[in-house]
Amino acid sequence: MGIPRSWGGILRGLSAFCAIAQAQTSSPSPTSSHSAQFTVPAEANIAPAVIPNIKDPQAVDAQTVCPGYTASNVQQTASGFTASLSLAGDACNVYGTDIEALSLTVEYQRADRLHVAIVPTHIGAENATQYLIPQGYLAEPEVEEPNVVSDLEFSWTNDPSFGFEVTRKSTKDVLFSTKGTRIVFENQFVEFKSALPKNYNLYGLGESVHGFRLGNNYTKTYYAADAGATVDINVYGAHPFFLETRYFTEDADGNLKLVESYEATAKSNYTSLSHGVFSRNAHGQDILMQEDSITYRAIGGSVDLYFFPGPSQPEVTKSYLTTVGLPAMQQYWTFGFHQCRWGYTSWAELEDVVNNHTHFDIPLETIWTDIDWMVRYRDFENNPVGFDDESSKGFIQRLHDGGRHYVPIIDSAIYIPNPSNPDDAYPVFERGNDTGAFLTNPDGSLYVGAVWPGYTVFPDWLAEGTEQWWIDEMVRYYQITGYDGAWIDMSEISSFCVGSCGSNNLTLQPVHVPFALPGEPANPVLIYPEGFNKTNATEAASASAARASWSSAYPTSSATASTSYVRTTPTPDVRDVNYPPYAINNVKGALAVGAISPNATHADGTLEYDVHNLWGHGILKATYNALSAISPDARPFILGRSTFAGSGSYAAHWGGDNWSNWPSMILSIPQALSMSLLGIPMFGVDTCGFADNTDMELCNRWMQLSAFFPFYRNHNILGAISQEAYRWSSVIDASKAAMAIRYQLLPYMYTLFYHAHKKGETVMRALAWEFPRNPSLANADRQFMLGPSILVIPVLEQGATSVNGVFPGLIEGEEVWYDWYNNTAVPVPAQANTTINAPLGHIPVYARGGSVFPLQQSALTTRDARNSPWDILVALDKDGSATGNLYLDDGVSVTPNATLHAEFKVENRKLETLIEHGGWVEENNLRNVTIWGVEKANTPIKFNGKAVPPKNVHFDGDKNTLVVSGFDVSAWAGKRWSLEW
Ligand code: GLC
Repeated sequence: MGIPRSWGGILRGLSAFCAIAQAQTSSPSPTSSHSAQFTVPAEANIAPAVIPNIKDPQAVDAQTVCPGYTASNVQQTASGFTASLSLAGDACNVYGTDIEALSLTVEYQRADRLHVAIVPTHIGAENATQYLIPQGYLAEPEVEEPNVVSDLEFSWTNDPSFGFEVTRKSTKDVLFSTKGTRIVFENQFVEFKSALPKNYNLYGLGESVHGFRLGNNYTKTYYAADAGATVDINVYGAHPFFLETRYFTEDADGNLKLVESYEATAKSNYTSLSHGVFSRNAHGQDILMQEDSITYRAIGGSVDLYFFPGPSQPEVTKSYLTTVGLPAMQQYWTFGFHQCRWGYTSWAELEDVVNNHTHFDIPLETIWTDIDWMVRYRDFENNPVGFDDESSKGFIQRLHDGGRHYVPIIDSAIYIPNPSNPDDAYPVFERGNDTGAFLTNPDGSLYVGAVWPGYTVFPDWLAEGTEQWWIDEMVRYYQITGYDGAWIDMSEISSFCVGSCGSNNLTLQPVHVPFALPGEPANPVLIYPEGFNKTNATEAASASAARASWSSAYPTSSATASTSYVRTTPTPDVRDVNYPPYAINNVKGALAVGAISPNATHADGTLEYDVHNLWGHGILKATYNALSAISPDARPFILGRSTFAGSGSYAAHWGGDNWSNWPSMILSIPQALSMSLLGIPMFGVDTCGFADNTDMELCNRWMQLSAFFPFYRNHNILGAISQEAYRWSSVIDASKAAMAIRYQLLPYMYTLFYHAHKKGETVMRALAWEFPRNPSLANADRQFMLGPSILVIPVLEQGATSVNGVFPGLIEGEEVWYDWYNNTAVPVPAQANTTINAPLGHIPVYARGGSVFPLQQSALTTRDARNSPWDILVALDKDGSATGNLYLDDGVSVTPNATLHAEFKVENRKLETLIEHGGWVEENNLRNVTIWGVEKANTPIKFNGKAVPPKNVHFDGDKNTLVVSGFDVSAWAGKRWSLEW
């Protein structure tokens, strides 16, 4: 368990990505279909190199040169106190200009939330966004319970300079302490550092492609980047929140002693306490996790910390999510299976894909289009070739008639027309421009970068009219081609050139991106997953020959290591936003590479530098409002790429551009667990892999694995081989087998989502959260739980036919796990690691004893699954008990006017169901009740106290399974029903 030992595959994936980037250096081949087009030169996306501070041997450690601050003038307030901080010595001006006077605010905002803020004393309107997140952009946590009593205690010292400590009162455990370190606060650099216990267990700090437990030798960088789902770099989103879990032993007097070697034991009777820390800073930053400390280094913003005492993971998560925003409730249909690819060429092809799923009896809920639907990649205009307006109507109608849905991609950047070509009109741009909806250069001219359509402009979410313009465009397009959700891409915000590269080149429009698209001759997709040569020797040989001939036709210039780097020194009171003196570990190097430049300017004067990580959140909010305008009563379904803390209230998220390789599949589990903590439970990854070619074995395993992720979509890059489930007969079978379970569990999943949305519970769960007393599970990320009751132990290795898994709790006999397929309890293993037989096509899935599952029947669509009879499945625990619940509504409405809640409880051989009617009339019969783990069935079995006819009772003594049938829809009508055996 844990992160894979070898990153070979991912690194190969990474080099494949670099190869795409490398291709940028050569002009498109004369055979390219785009040969008539001007290609943005590859050099346009190159900027002088910077050396990240954490890798720079010449870097100065601010802790050694800065004076820190002295606190004075403490004033009590209703919910804490305020104080003044003044520089405790000569300014160090290490990576900016020191701010002499700061204000400290300590607020006990709620029993479960302590706020610690340090901001410059003089923040004026003109410099506010250097330090503070623009008002109204994100949830703004405030005091909710004045004079509250909290288990957290804030203390501070001026010795040797101002430092503070947050302690858990009940255990005296120090959770966060800057004491003994210096706080550094400059106009372009903010640093603070806290001690941490040895071998700490830290989770979250997303968006990260990394093992679940972050470890103590990892720097998490935040600068939203279109960089593929690559390990250990800054990727699409920024969520500076962590959960820390500490395990303790307890002596006879109840004193807790920290467990430092968490892997030492599989025993499960430790005490665990968790807390959370959210740093509400949207600026570019590095967070350094080192042996016994965590250091925050941001290139702006302020100290804006929120501490959550827990002491359990669910409590921490609830506190965090009620602070930044609870996850959006999703429509029922969004839990069906989604099929997508870059490269579908027409409505007709989409319809074929849909029909093929039906033909092979593979459930399919939603068909997606990538940028292919657009005419020359322009948002909101259908490509008349293949995707004409008129045919879209019939196509979408037929989809809807079949209970299916359609979601198109919508890109973040907007094409700017060629001013010398009167035929190049693009009203979407014109209307936005008239509104002042686009970012500008500092001189007020439009900022023109480059994305898929060519040179583009970028919406400015801080400008007054932008959101309404976006809403209008989405509504207008909806009237041409109805859609059921929106897929928002490239929102980091990505741009394929440095600076306003198109400003003087618009007469070349429409230009080709500065690299060969996948599948173009200069960039064929030729790589297959590891092990492909073992399973497909002939194809592998021909792929490698093609690769060799491609490499000789398109030699890539050997990368020369840069020896000169831009290092800037601070100029008093002047910020260098393009090359800040502190260089974060940005994967792209200079901040302007691959994204719009830091000096792009918003309508209120805010520089992109100060809000870069928030752009993706802005478009999600605007899109949410647009979908709400289109269907005011329906929950908007949005899939977004770049997210910030709180984006889960608006959107779902996918892991971005992964690879068709095994490490990408492995990492999808910790990615999803991290997103659970960060409040985006509707998460999944490109199943079967995005970049490169997949193969049958990988796709088989992955279609099964993703079936247990909340968001389930197969997506593929342009030019790669097709990877719909029906392309291989074994993948058809495997997908259907896993989907059958998923679709049966839809009511369970939907209910989990309801609790996530209402109370901040998690949907996909780590073993460490469900079994918090067992430190050996602290890093378990090769298996996971779906809610509290389903355990999934997938095969993640090429060629494997079995998998090593852990059945938590079994050592003490405290848990019972039932194999989903044969309905019997798994025999207690002798040790924690058990080898499970899992040939290709089989994904081990277990029900946790103690659970009641409301199930419906699998079907090709969620609509049909919802119209099928119910089964109640009871999996008894070692004491013969179980609980569960169910939430139902219309699956669509933001505020449903009809709901139904049911609670299931089993004790002493009796299942009792309590139904709370909120107007929802359930019209599907209760077909049967199945109970796993029944050693003996007393007769007669009684339903509501009356004997059930023997013909309706089936007891299998070998499997300890009791099945009772013969109910009808009236089971849902009353307030309660019971079954006794
Ligand atoms: C980005 C997206 C990917 C999409 C591609 C083309 O790379 O992450 O999913 O297929 O753009 O639109």
